[in-house]
Amino acid sequence: MPEPLQVEFVCNGTPRTVSVAPDESLLTLLREDLGLRSLKDGCAPQGQCGCCTVLVDGAARVACVTPATRVAGRAVTTLEGLDADRRSDLVDAFVNTGASQCGFCTPGILVRAAALLDHGRADAGAVERALGAHLCRCTGWRTILDAIVGDAHAPAGRRLDGASTRASLEGQNAQRVGAGVPLGEGGFADDSAPADALVAVPLPLGSRAESVEAAELRWVVDESLHAARSRAGSTPGRRSTRSSEPPLPLPAPVPGGVRLATSWVEPAYLEPDASWCEPGGEPASPLANGGAFGGKVNSAAPAAARELSAALGRTVRVVYSREDAVRLGPKRPPIAATAALRDGTLHIDGRYVGAPMSWPDAPGAVTVPVLEVWSPVACPGPPTAPALRAFPLAEQTVLREAALTEAGVDSGACCVDDRVAAARLATVAVATGGGVAGARVKLDDAGALARVVVRVGAGDPLDEVALRSFCVGATHMALGWVLSEGLGVDRESGEVLDLTIRSFGILRARATPPVEVEVLDDPGPARAASDAVFAAVAAAAWEAITAVEGERPETFPARSTRAAIAAR
Ligand code: FES
Ligand code: FES
Repeated sequence: MPEPLQVEFVCNGTPRTVSVAPDESLLTLLREDLGLRSLKDGCAPQGQCGCCTVLVDGAARVACVTPATRVAGRAVTTLEGLDADRRSDLVDAFVNTGASQCGFCTPGILVRAAALLDHGRADAGAVERALGAHLCRCTGWRTILDAIVGDAHAPAGRRLDGASTRASLEGQNAQRVGAGVPLGEGGFADDSAPADALVAVPLPLGSRAESVEAAELRWVVDESLHAARSRAGSTPGRRSTRSSEPPLPLPAPVPGGVRLATSWVEPAYLEPDASWCEPGGEPASPLANGGAFGGKVNSAAPAAARELSAALGRTVRVVYSREDAVRLGPKRPPIAATAALRDGTLHIDGRYVGAPMSWPDAPGAVTVPVLEVWSPVACPGPPTAPALRAFPLAEQTVLREAALTEAGVDSGACCVDDRVAAARLATVAVATGGGVAGARVKLDDAGALARVVVRVGAGDPLDEVALRSFCVGATHMALGWVLSEGLGVDRESGEVLDLTIRSFGILRARATPPVEVEVLDDPGPARAASDAVFAAVAAAAWEAITAVEGERPETFPARSTRAAIAAR
């Protein structure tokens, strides 16, 4: 073991002397050694998500790629140490605009925003550029821009309990809204683990598991995260040069119809799986403040924490790295399908990667009868899960809308011009009693996203700020699914090759267009609507690309647009 080194520095105004391993990062020093939980580990040591952003001598730095020894003699400021008025103003602004949902990404964004404001550089362009150092999976960026550079006053009479109910409805898991969330206090399992817990990190024997349950995992357990990861030999993942082309071949064309093949898509919740458990106790939930878009339903972390704590007689904290979450977590199932209108009936014929599932009926009111046949297929690759956000509603919706458009039948659910009509929005209704949505996506002449208009009926909105936030977030994710998101996977071994958080193709702040959300007068109880928004926006985006490019792309991500977006 190399000799530890002494680092003297000033942390949030207090002189500190800390003993660190020579290869320890500033993130580990602050979070693990000093217990500062506002900093989050979303991708360490990739340095790509911004969740660990701190100020070093007043300049924003990502702590996971900053060696701890480099701050010797310097001043480090975390969210906890920001000027109290500046922090409180930013927190209020983020709550008022719905700019923080799970809140995992927000502390790092607040620290960078504070630095921009302190230096008088918080105009819209500078903030958009600065957000390039961050990732947010929940909010779709526009509310964050509103919070930092827009009008961030609370609507009169706003009630945060209604906002929390709306957030829980949309996130399909308990979720709160309030000042603690932007501060990173959303209740993440890894933040609440006792400081003296043993730390377990997964050591995958192989990455060819067909399901999370089948994954054979070994665990490396040690006294600290740094020691466990060092012993596990964890190395940072890379971005692959392999394309994210869909694993299933396109089916044969059908006369007058459309074809679509989609790729593996990483749910990319920002907070990697974590849990902890005392011997004989109940493991902490990895779901935290939201539902991870359905991606953690079968997480192996809680069971491992329970078993390891029972076996070792100590509290055990289980922590995934970003690479672990990508290798082990389920993906949106790829599909390959055709859709065509024949004899007055819409025929959808498709295959999907994954275990047999009961495929729900085509959602909502449609103008023609629909006959759908879907078959499961095995395919080397990461596990898939049908519980991921808006699956298979979005797949069904885009196929239906495209086939009806090709047949000259306007279902009215989505369109590329100004024809979005409230009376027809029910065509994208969620079958499970959810809300309704229509969408319009505008691209500029170069094919870049210019603007999205969403109309949504969600019953009682409960809180329009929260509803809007979830609609913008769903819009962002839908645009990414159609345009830019996909994973490189080795065709033979099934190994995921894109392990960095930037390589999933998530749209960045600068590539995300303004999103206008109109909440329709929709009497009745509150209904979840963001899945309907996802489906409507995806269908509208596919139509918009088709209109601009003059032909319909047959794969998601649509490769030409992925390249155009990457260039921004
Ligand atoms: S954890 Fe440091 S940038 Fe992601
Ligand atoms: S609020 Fe940004 S990742 Fe959840």
